Amino acid sequence: MSEIKAQIIGLGHSVPEGILTNDDLSQIVDTSDEWIYTRTGIRQRRIADANTSTSDLATDAAQKALKDAGIRADQLDMIILGTASPDMVFPASACVVQDNIGAKNAAAFDISAACSGFLYGLSIARGFITSGMATYVLVIGAEVLSKILNFEDRSTCVLFGDGAGAAVLTPSENGKGVLSSFIRSDGAGARSLNMPAGGTRRPTSPETLEKRLHYIHMAGNDVFKYAVRAMGEATRVALEETGTKASDVDLLIPHQANIRIIEATAKRVKIPMDKVFVNLDQYGNTSAASIPIALNEARQQGRIQSGDLVVLVAFGGGYSWGSVAIRW
Ligand code: UT7
Repeated sequence: MSEIKAQIIGLGHSVPEGILTNDDLSQIVDTSDEWIYTRTGIRQRRIADANTSTSDLATDAAQKALKDAGIRADQLDMIILGTASPDMVFPASACVVQDNIGAKNAAAFDISAACSGFLYGLSIARGFITSGMATYVLVIGAEVLSKILNFEDRSTCVLFGDGAGAAVLTPSENGKGVLSSFIRSDGAGARSLNMPAGGTRRPTSPETLEKRLHYIHMAGNDVFKYAVRAMGEATRVALEETGTKASDVDLLIPHQANIRIIEATAKRVKIPMDKVFVNLDQYGNTSAASIPIALNEARQQGRIQSGDLVVLVAFGGGYSWGSVAIRW
């Protein structure tokens, strides 16, 4: 009997219907399709309507993942939701999802690890499952970032989009599942990527509203350089911990922030781009949702087969970063 692993048995994702193209953005701020595409690789992003919140997209993704897994919501022991754009500061958006889907036996909580939220969630799920403390765990990454974007700031508003992805995990003894998980943080990065107001440091006031402090602020260059280093490191750790080589990786699924970050990371770890999944041209940076959306699309497109070695790698606000290697 092989050791117990946490295996993904169901996936789902949800994106809003509304599409905002680079040309649309060039009507709003001083930018162009040419600048956005060459600097980021993004062509368009999905934008939620006024009535749609993070928990709405998360609920849709969760229901699809449960259906895919073939389990009922009341079988879930835990719901972990990674997000930087929760419905409210509290309660957790995971609790809203729990109520929406009827997961009455589950503990539900959010994780604040920005773009790394889904991998932090997978790591926690793995711990609970392999220790025998949980049987079915739902991990979600969901964002409606468009509602915390300053559409007067061209250096941020062109980068992000909305969406959600979800995975159901359960114990397996068939050798399939999470082989390694690695998560790290560097709080000094809080200065380079944050939403300054609306918390207890700078509570909402007429002044914070006037200064547009309730939106994402980012020093893009600093984040870029750190991201390439950290995602390279996290991928290397995944290979070391699983005793594999770059050539053993069937698919690398990186956080979808910028094609130049993805290409630089792949080059560092010597994984060719034909083994790297990219969909940021369609969705932009959906933060915690980017990896589960990409994972589900990769599977739907037949890019992941049973037995494949899949490496997920993320970087984001915190700073936070990490990797998860999966035998599919
Ligand atoms: O999810 C994890 C968190 N986020 C990331 O990983 C994002 C990391 N950073 C990046 O992807 C890149 O740094 C950006 C895409 C944000 C910026 O690309 P860059 O090549 O680092 O450009 P830059 O910030 O150095 O700006 C170059 C120029 C500047 O003009 P000047 O000063 O050279 O005249 C900017 O003002 O491009 C200008 N610029 C724009 N021009 C047209 C910045 N944003 C835009 C824009 N359209 N949207």
